Amino acid sequence: MKVLVTGGAGYVGSHALMELSRAGHEAFVFDNLSQGHAQAVGSCPLVRGDLSDEGQVESALEQSGAEAVMHFAASAYVGESVEDPEKYYFNNVVNTLRLLRVMRRRGVDRFIFSGSCTVYGVPERVPIGEDWPVQAINPYGRTKMAVEGVLADYARAYGLKYASLRYFNAAGAAPDGSIGEDHDPETHLIPLVIHAALGKRDSIAIFGTDYPTPDGTCVRDYVHVLDLASAHVMAMEALDERAPMVYNLSTGRGHSVRDVIERVKQVSGRDFRVLEVPRRPGDPPELVGSANKIRRELGWEPRCPSLRAIVETAWNWHKEHPDGFGG
Ligand code: UD1
Repeated sequence: MKVLVTGGAGYVGSHALMELSRAGHEAFVFDNLSQGHAQAVGSCPLVRGDLSDEGQVESALEQSGAEAVMHFAASAYVGESVEDPEKYYFNNVVNTLRLLRVMRRRGVDRFIFSGSCTVYGVPERVPIGEDWPVQAINPYGRTKMAVEGVLADYARAYGLKYASLRYFNAAGAAPDGSIGEDHDPETHLIPLVIHAALGKRDSIAIFGTDYPTPDGTCVRDYVHVLDLASAHVMAMEALDERAPMVYNLSTGRGHSVRDVIERVKQVSGRDFRVLEVPRRPGDPPELVGSANKIRRELGWEPRCPSLRAIVETAWNWHKEHPDGFGG
């Protein structure tokens, strides 16, 4: 299939390009490069453009001959979404509406959406299933909820075939060392701990040690980014038969902040300073997802479910690219 990949120069999007090519699909990237990296798209054609400009989107769809769209382009900093919700509603909701409008105009009706476990807010227990109440606690999560509502309505009214994939914590890097995680600013735990191991920062701070979890630190479900990517391809291939689909992408296993730090120390063989600081506002104590639904319905299985293997791929990439794609 020919696929337009918005945000294809970003972290998850660029790994999706690898999986699309592995599965024999043809990808075209549409990215404004505000967060993404041109080097991350490899040999895929890249159109530099912005979703706020329907003309640019339309010509990218036309040029690519796309039969499906994978939509990764979005703003994804929870803290920033609290400070500047307007940016998030425009970028994540309004621009998605524009993209869907252009798709309708051009008769493209297959859509894969980057959802998020953030829609579950603070769950009462784990592991979380897709039928649990969605009750995001920050604007970023509410933009993801809003788009899911739009997709359901468009499916009913216009026959849109979509999948919303609710990622838990995306982590790791391509095992061949070609691409990895490079955000600016970086806020995610695994790359920050690796930066401490590499001496790029003095220390790593644990945000809160008084959570109701076994070691007092937050527990998350880390999923390898290529496993996320392969789920996108499988969902896209199943759209004609199974849409609409809403799936968690998770491993069902939780790891605490302390677990992650220990794992990075083991894998890197390096020691570094660990500070304990107060909680970061808005962090739920524990987020672990059940991915039984996508396992059962599409046969998806994470190929790299262990934290050790995830950290190894991330460490290998960062060690070789200490300055990310800029290096
Ligand atoms: C959050 C969102 C997720 C979103 C992602 C995008 C929630 C619940 N999750 O993931 O949906 O896709 O951001 O950016 O809103 N930590 C430290 N020290 C650090 C950094 C992080 O202790 O220096 C802790 C955090 O408190 C958290 C865990 O590590 O408990 C993971 O943090 P992070 O990697 O930022 O991801 P989430 O906040 O879980």
